[in-house]
Amino acid sequence: MVSDTGADVYTWDLPSHFPEPLVPEDNPMSVAKVRLGRRLFYDTALSGNGTQSCASCHEQSLAFTDGKAFAEGSTGERHPRSSMSLTNVAYYSTLGWSNPLHRQLEQQIPTPMFGQDPVELGLAGQEKLLLDRLRATPLYGPLFEAAFGDAQDAFSVEAVVQALASFMRTMISSGSPYDRWVQGDRGDFSEEAERGLELFTSEKFECFHCHGGFNLADSVNHADTVFEEQIFHNTGLYNVDGAGAFPEPNVGLIEFTGQQADMGKFRAPSLRNVEVTAPYMHDGSIGTLNGVLAHYGVAGRTLIGGANAGVGSDNPWKSPFLVGFEMTEPEQEALIAFLHSLTDPDFLFREELSNPWPQDEF
Ligand code: HEC
Ligand code: HEC
Repeated sequence: MVSDTGADVYTWDLPSHFPEPLVPEDNPMSVAKVRLGRRLFYDTALSGNGTQSCASCHEQSLAFTDGKAFAEGSTGERHPRSSMSLTNVAYYSTLGWSNPLHRQLEQQIPTPMFGQDPVELGLAGQEKLLLDRLRATPLYGPLFEAAFGDAQDAFSVEAVVQALASFMRTMISSGSPYDRWVQGDRGDFSEEAERGLELFTSEKFECFHCHGGFNLADSVNHADTVFEEQIFHNTGLYNVDGAGAFPEPNVGLIEFTGQQADMGKFRAPSLRNVEVTAPYMHDGSIGTLNGVLAHYGVAGRTLIGGANAGVGSDNPWKSPFLVGFEMTEPEQEALIAFLHSLTDPDFLFREELSNPWPQDEF
């Protein structure tokens, strides 16, 4: 059993418009776990062949995405989907583009570590190798002991997962120009960005229905949540058979539920730091924010020619909030200015979230 030594409770320094993240009872936050998790997140010992760490696909300066349409695993296998930003990942009610089953970070983390379809870190069947490697790194002895007590089993896969989850719960982005403006400080939040926010929350553009709230995402769960919502939407990105199909294997929520109406449904990502997370969507199929706006403007893009050809706006499973809109150039520029105002340089360069290797100090 993994237990917390409890001496060094971790507390967040959150602005007033941010709720406290929820933490599972069996993995309370501690400074020691966060410190250990940061080392592990950046350690290539976490891949079977020693070539990749979590950070290989989740780079801090890109809000913990990788800039690619499709992630690539340690053995060179291409992931069918795009790496996700870890901005404020502590607040999502489900994790992954369309998986309703991963409700907590502790449940999601084994996927990149041990998953075989696709192979990411490639640790399936290599638990012993992983723990032997960690034991052989002098730095880890004291770190594991501080985080999980000096029991003989301080080194365990469960402890690795718990420490990684604790570290990721500190990936809070709350210092963008938009946030400072919410707190009453105009600062770098331009009047154009403010007009963009008005458009974003208008019934004409409808963005806020799915990207609303403090995290600019509707799938949230936190200490103040009354009804936890797990929400997935079809945004009319594809319609390959004229009957609403999305291209395999990225069919969305239906992959997990088998319900036809869940075809093409994905979780709306937070738009925080979206300026640096291109290319966009679960398969990186839209390269720019202007491209994303064009897709929403026609209520689902049309793809001409190729295997994925189809009229997205005719997708029968599309969300009713995808209504389409005409947009003037100043409106488009204002929306983009608002989206850019969600970039938080402190998050992208914060020391506590950066690669701590190779220094021996900790
Ligand atoms: C090969 C690249 C790759 C590696 C290595 C990788 N990830 Fe990911 N990560 C992804 C992709 C791709 C997704 C989206 C998965 C999906 O739902 O299809 C993702 C999703 C996630 C999510 C869900 C985020 C959200 O908003 O729901 C978390 C959390 C996460 N990864 C953490 C980690 C951790 C921790 C590690 C190291 C143990 C790791 N990842 C290693 C590519 C990678
Ligand atoms: C019906 C819900 C819904 C509405 C309305 C909506 N979105 Fe989205 N948005 C989503 C979903 C779901 C995704 C992910 C889709 C995917 O990957 O297939 C997404 C993706 C995005 C992305 C890409 C994010 C990334 O990291 O890849 C951007 C940018 C975005 N939306 C902006 C907007 C803007 C601006 C508006 C208003 C014009 C808007 N959205 C309206 C649900 C919505």
